[in-house]
Amino acid sequence: MDLKLDCEHLKGFIKEKDWISLAPRVQKAHEQLHQRNGKGHEFTGWLDLPERISDSFLDELTKLGEEVRTQSDCLVSIGIGGSYIGIRASLEFLVDQQKLPVYYAGHNLSSTYYHELLKELENKRVTVVVISKSGTTTEPALGFRIIKNFMEKKYSREELKKRIICVTDEKKGALRQIVQKEGYRAYSIPDDVGGRFSILTPVGLVPLAIAGLDIRGLVNGARQAQRDFSKMDIDQNISYRYAAARFFLYQMYRKIEILSSFDQRMNFVAEWWKQLFGESEGKEGKGIYPASANFTADLHSLGQYIQEGERHLFETFLMAESSGPQVLIPADKENLDNFNAVAGKDFDFVNKQAYKATSMAHFEGDVPNMTISFPRFDASSLGQLYYFFEKAVAITGYLLDVNPFDQPGVEAYKIKMFKLLGIAR
Ligand code: PA5
Repeated sequence: MDLKLDCEHLKGFIKEKDWISLAPRVQKAHEQLHQRNGKGHEFTGWLDLPERISDSFLDELTKLGEEVRTQSDCLVSIGIGGSYIGIRASLEFLVDQQKLPVYYAGHNLSSTYYHELLKELENKRVTVVVISKSGTTTEPALGFRIIKNFMEKKYSREELKKRIICVTDEKKGALRQIVQKEGYRAYSIPDDVGGRFSILTPVGLVPLAIAGLDIRGLVNGARQAQRDFSKMDIDQNISYRYAAARFFLYQMYRKIEILSSFDQRMNFVAEWWKQLFGESEGKEGKGIYPASANFTADLHSLGQYIQEGERHLFETFLMAESSGPQVLIPADKENLDNFNAVAGKDFDFVNKQAYKATSMAHFEGDVPNMTISFPRFDASSLGQLYYFFEKAVAITGYLLDVNPFDQPGVEAYKIKMFKLLGIAR
């Protein structure tokens, strides 16, 4: 197992007897999930998805990526929520693998953003991937209108068939109808996998393959995690131990979880995690509020609140064991800033000490915390993390007795907005 969970700073908050009393409840949640008889079981296709992805499909997408890169200066990836955040999280985590610049669209309703984007694309050879499971979501539908209009002025109808790729439901939705009418290339999203669990479906794999990322490594990592986190026992299964700890802390009035990291490559993984946990747990008046912090920068802002504010928090650190290329700190003859003590050390050494100091200080400041660590910034670690968190949120969802796989609350603003826009639905 590559991932590790350090629970040292839960001591005093969760006692041995608490772990023992949590075990049978986790076992029940595991059975509901694996026997597919719990709430929302029709959306548990992600559970064995890593092993169901065929190697020939990965080969096909790798070839597609090579072909698209020869005809393009950039990719525009259109989508929102589960059809956007995981893609960006993967590209930022694996930034050193990226072979083609990627622009995003369909994730906001800002005129300025589109104005700037269209200017940026003007003299570039562009390929577009439009991703929408429902095919009817406002932001990507309007974003696609704008980008499609731009593409139609730039390319012939035949050329567009190579340059517009759609990822959507196999049969339903407006985007599927557009595919049928225009003859664009298309990939299908499985029915039994919801948006926030879809990073390993064509939703994520198509744009990531085009950008040149190691999609095989990503899937292999998830396959390893599927095996590693299949056991029912919280002593052996750290995904379940994490889930149980979260549930226990929530019962102790720790209503907010902060996912804290010390490397900007994880900022969007934290966004992905917020969607996964917020949409899965936040319903029926229940759920831990998922927040994130980007250290050390946020230690100079949020740090004050975390250390001394209201004690309704707990924290999960996400740490890489090895961070990448070294940058050594130079010695300075005058040493006016007094930092010669760390001269000759790698920057990352200082970062790691900052993490140790922070986790200790927050623990002593009455913020229980855990640390999830992964070996390095590679595709396998990321695939393992994705699956680790998906499995954990399914278990806490069942412990909270909610359906972790629906999101009825996201409709409320849409109903009001359609009314304001005069759109019939
Ligand atoms: O998790 C979800 O279901 C949402 O965040 C969706 O992914 C998001 O609304 C986009 O939906 P769609 O892919 O249908 O356009």
